Amino acid sequence: MSSHSKQSDFQILPRHIAIIMDGNGRWAKKKFLPRLAGHKAGIQSVQQTVKRCIEMKIEVLTLFAFSSENWKRPEEEVSHLMHLFITALKNEANKLHEQNIQLRVIGDRSRFDEKLTQQIEVVENLTANNTGLKLLLATNYGGQWDITQAVQRIACDIEKGVISSEAVTAEQIQKYLSFADLPDPDLFIRTSGEQRISNFILWQLAYTELYFTDVLWPDFNADELDKAFAFFAKRERRFGFTSEQITQVK
Ligand code: IPE
Ligand code: IPE
Ligand code: MG
Repeated sequence: MSSHSKQSDFQILPRHIAIIMDGNGRWAKKKFLPRLAGHKAGIQSVQQTVKRCIEMKIEVLTLFAFSSENWKRPEEEVSHLMHLFITALKNEANKLHEQNIQLRVIGDRSRFDEKLTQQIEVVENLTANNTGLKLLLATNYGGQWDITQAVQRIACDIEKGVISSEAVTAEQIQKYLSFADLPDPDLFIRTSGEQRISNFILWQLAYTELYFTDVLWPDFNADELDKAFAFFAKRERRFGFTSEQITQVK
C-alpha cells in the first residue's frame, strides 16, 4: 500500500481516529540525540498524519500530546514540551485555518500558563467555524480526569436540581465528557510497541478497534497510517451482536 491509495481503496474508513504518539524519546536515543529532538521530529509525523486524514476525509483526529501523568517527567523536558506546543500552535495557526481544520484542545487547562492558554484560545477561535477535519489535541488530558470532571459537573447539576439522580444514565454521562458532540473513536493507534492505554480516552474507547505498531512516532507517516486503515477495514465490529446478525444487516 502506498501514500497514493485513494479513499475508495478502503471499504470502510474510521470516522474518528485517536492516536497515542509514542516513542519520541527512544527515536532520539537511537540516534544519540537529546529527547527533545525526538519530540521535534514528531511534529513532522503530525503534519503527515493530518494531511493524510484530510485526503481520506476523516472527520475527527485526536492526538495525545501530553498526558496528565507527563508532568512527572524532568522539569526540563516538560518545559521544552510546553514551549514546543506553544510554538507549533503559533506557527501552524494560519495553515490549519487555510486547510479548513477545526482545532480543539481537550484536557485540563488549569495548569497551563497564561501564554499557552491564550494561544490555544486564539487558534480555537480562529478555526471554530471551519467545517473540515476536527483536530483534537489531548493536552494535560487523562481518561480518568475526563470522567472525574464529568461526574463533578453531574453532581453539581443534581445539587442545582437541573437533573435528577435517576437521570444519570450512560447516555447522560457521555454528554458531560470531552468531545460529547463527536462520534466515539472507531480506530485507536499506538506507536512504539507499547500495548497499553496509559490513561488516554477511557469511556469512549469501549468499542474502538485497537491497532498497535512498533514504528516509533517520528517514523510514522502516511504509509503507516494506510496500514492502520487496512487493518481497520478487515475488522468486523459486532458491538455485542453475533457475527450472523451483523452479516444479515449488511
Ligand atoms: C511520546 O514519546 C511523547 C510524549 C509523551 C510527550 P515519549 O517521550 O513517551 O517517548 P518514549 O516512550 O520515551 O520513547
Ligand atoms: C502516553 O505516552 C502519553 C503521550 C503519548 C502523550 P507515555 O510515554 O507517557 O506512556 P507510558 O508512561 O509509557 O505508559
Ligand atoms: Mg512514551
